[in-house]
Amino acid sequence: MKKNILITGGAGFIGSHLVRLLVHKYPTYHIVNMDVLTYAGNLENLKEIEAKENYTFVKVDICDFETVKQTFITYKIDAVIHLAAESHVDRSIKDPFSFAQTNVMGTLSLLQAAKETWGSDFTNKLFYHVSTDEVYGSLGEDGLFTEDTAYDPHSPYAASKASSDHFVRAFHDTYQLPVVVSNCSNNYGSYQFPEKLIPLFINNIIHNKPLPVYGKGENVRDWLFVNDHARAIDVIFHKGKIGETYNIGGFNEWKNIDLINVIIKTVDRLLGREAGTSQKLITYITDRAGHDFRYAIDSSKLKEELGWEPSLQFEAGIEKTVAWYLENQEWLHNITSGDYRAYYDKMYGVD
Ligand code: NAD
Ligand code: DAU
Repeated sequence: MKKNILITGGAGFIGSHLVRLLVHKYPTYHIVNMDVLTYAGNLENLKEIEAKENYTFVKVDICDFETVKQTFITYKIDAVIHLAAESHVDRSIKDPFSFAQTNVMGTLSLLQAAKETWGSDFTNKLFYHVSTDEVYGSLGEDGLFTEDTAYDPHSPYAASKASSDHFVRAFHDTYQLPVVVSNCSNNYGSYQFPEKLIPLFINNIIHNKPLPVYGKGENVRDWLFVNDHARAIDVIFHKGKIGETYNIGGFNEWKNIDLINVIIKTVDRLLGREAGTSQKLITYITDRAGHDFRYAIDSSKLKEELGWEPSLQFEAGIEKTVAWYLENQEWLHNITSGDYRAYYDKMYGVD
């Protein structure tokens, strides 16, 4: 029975969905959310559970090894679900150093803290590393990434995540640290920072701003509703086999331009605008450097071995997502204005 669970990056997009799920579903677990609150960390995402007795927030940089180790000791951490990362590909192209620092050194710091505090008795211990399909590189028109696909990362973000995956597996092979890794495709849903395609475009359509489409808009991504990713993590955390890797995906491929047209249609309709009003905002711009053409995940191992599959059809998921951003324009405004940064000070006092 794993009781004290450290979730890193719990104030981010996927992390906040996971924290909410686990805090509600497992009242006997103590969920410790470790997040340093970079630009992508927003405690407003966790308002709903911040006062729960089985939840604690600690503002800690995962790269600060001594404080990370002390946190393991203070909260008697049994298991880690590690999501904290620099996660935006475009930022990694501009500043690769911070990606190597957080994603590689931060992961190493957590692994070493787990190893040192858990000693040689790994009974009921688990280090769960949350990774991405981008480590596998880019597909052509056909084929799917499986757990056996060779690593071939292209962006500095993907290279840093690939490196962190290797460190996790190295700690298993060298020190027998009990680890499990999952590699997931593109997530969408509420609370995603509006620099990623879907929330950025919804926000821009609301404000009649240009929609910057990279290249010809022909790149393909495999979209999964974020709550389904959180459910998959829950299943793998409880039932996954030590040392194994599980791919998570939606079997839901979309060419960017087709997806963008669905977003435009949905936002215009829900805002009561005439169909096609925002079509004129589409602006083709220079392609992303090293832009991977296509990602698509084969998640049949997860379905066959652990019984997980996506719960939501894309049409329903995108409708829910657009509706959420339209109903939560204050949340979007707080982010784009920078006001969300005041939330930590207000709730926890100035550090
Ligand atoms: P995000 O950028 O929304 O959130 C990242 C969180 O990590 C933020 O709260 C941030 O404050 C925190 N963080 C960053 N650096 C930190 C540090 N040094 N110490 C402590 N906290 C730090 O990211 P996301 O989209 O929620 O992704 C979460 C994880 O899932 C990442 O590891 C990412 O690689 C992986 N992933 C994301 C997707 C996706 O589509 N978003 C898909 C597959 C895998
Ligand atoms: O595949 C999983 C990955 O998905 C995660 O590991 C990453 O953390 C996450 O950010 C996401 O990466 P992508 O680069 O695929 O997501 P992004 O939303 O940045 O872009 C999606 C596609 O849309 C991609 O082909 C680039 C394109 N795009 C993106 C933006 C932000 C545009 O055409 N215009 C844009 O302004």
